[in-house]
Amino acid sequence: MGNKTLKLWLTLSAIFIISGITVGVVLYSLYRDEVLVERISAIRERMISLASIRTWVVDSETSQRGYVISGNSTFLEPLTTAREHLGAAQKTLRNQLIADASMLELNSTLERLITLHYENIKATLARAAQGNFSQAEQMVSRGQGQKIMDQIRAVIGEMETYHQQRLTAASEERRTAMLWARLATIALGGLILVLIATLAYIIDRELRHRELYQEQLNQEVERLAAELRERAEELDTLSTYLQNSIEKERAQLARDLHDEFGGVLTALKIELAWVEGKAEAYDETLTERTRQVSARVNDLIDLKRRVIENLRPSLLDNLGVEAALTWYARDVTERAGLALELDIDTLALRPASEIAIALFRIAQEAISNTLKYAQATTVRLSLKMKNNQLRLEISDNGVGIDMSARTNKRLTHGLAGMKHRALTLRGQFFIYSTPGQGTTIIAEIPYQSAVVYTPERRAQEPSSSQSSAPDRSTSSQAARETASG
Ligand SMILES: Nc1ncnc2c1ncn2[C@@H]1O[C@H](COP(=O)(O)OP(=O)(O)OP(=O)(O)O)[C@@H](O)[C@H]1O
Ligand SMILES: [Mg+2]
Repeated sequence: MGNKTLKLWLTLSAIFIISGITVGVVLYSLYRDEVLVERISAIRERMISLASIRTWVVDSETSQRGYVISGNSTFLEPLTTAREHLGAAQKTLRNQLIADASMLELNSTLERLITLHYENIKATLARAAQGNFSQAEQMVSRGQGQKIMDQIRAVIGEMETYHQQRLTAASEERRTAMLWARLATIALGGLILVLIATLAYIIDRELRHRELYQEQLNQEVERLAAELRERAEELDTLSTYLQNSIEKERAQLARDLHDEFGGVLTALKIELAWVEGKAEAYDETLTERTRQVSARVNDLIDLKRRVIENLRPSLLDNLGVEAALTWYARDVTERAGLALELDIDTLALRPASEIAIALFRIAQEAISNTLKYAQATTVRLSLKMKNNQLRLEISDNGVGIDMSARTNKRLTHGLAGMKHRALTLRGQFFIYSTPGQGTTIIAEIPYQSAVVYTPERRAQEPSSSQSSAPDRSTSSQAARETASG
């Protein structure tokens, strides 16, 4: 792991940890707020109860006072109502204070004082009922009643103060909790922004890396492809060179055989004719033997001619590729005892010698393969000119190429050589073969690919040049004539 990546992971981990803590703070603050809201509302409810108790107590006091002063019994109505409500309010407050021991104690004091208050009211009203209103009034204004009222007020005041303080504390606590929640929310927002920025940075970096990697990969692929092309071109050039060299060698050999070997054979033939003429006068056996030797020399001359023709058919240079193909196909099929179907167009223009030799060699190899492997009974050979394309097709009705047997040796020399010859001349090459249904080889070579023969080029290529053809043909003709004569 790189230093930068480690730093990023540490940053991300820190962000996640701090975010977790912040979320915890927010959740806790909200929980605290809920608790405090409940507490505040409970305190408020207690304060409401205390306020209503105070009201009912004061109402009773006022009602009693009004009755004592005026002697009017209608003033006693609020006292009755207050007593009814006060009981309920005290009960509520008792329930509300159940969990608060100190307040429960104070509430007991309050309840005791309220009981005393009502007992006192009861005594005062009893006096008033006896018609002793002035004594009753004195009891209310200066006596026990006033004292109890003061004590009740003091206790309620103390309870209210206590609750007011608790209310203030709870409100304060709530404010603090909300402040924490707010701060934590802001922090969380900030952290989310940092997280987004960090992630954006990581993604951007990753994308850049990938782009760079892709670019390097593309460059590498391009480099390898260029290298491969270069190698293929080199191989191509080498193959072309080898094929041309072979052609040159063959032509040279044909010429040497013709000129040197042919010359010797011709001289031998002349010498033998002389010996034969002389021998006739002396010895019949010698004459006979000399004739036999002469016949062997004729055989040699025939053999030499066939070898020369195989090395480089003179017809190719003299009469063109159509004649050479016709002669070769007839010659080999006749000797092998195969039927031949020929369909050869007479070309209006002669193709360049590269094309002619390529077509001839392709046909030669294809027919040779048929003889070697196909077990065929018929060979078809056609040469057509269509849309400026020379199309050579050689097919047989033999066993077909066993493609499965060829998978391990994809580039066998014969087929690869044919293909190479066609492709070098910007042509195309096809093999169609089905087991048991024969084989068809097709080479299509554009006629435009014919090389324009400049005198310089002709001079460079004695093997395939047309200038050498007449010489050889003449000599070969001479040798044949000599041999037969
Ligand atoms: N007309 C055909 N019929 C049946 N099989 C064929 C035919 N032509 C080629 N083959 C098969 O394809 C193989 C490859 O042929 P190719 O000419 O490339 O090589 P080769 O003839 O074995 O060797 P080389 O041509 O170098 O002497 C042959 O060995 C043969 O099995
Ligand atoms: Mg072959």
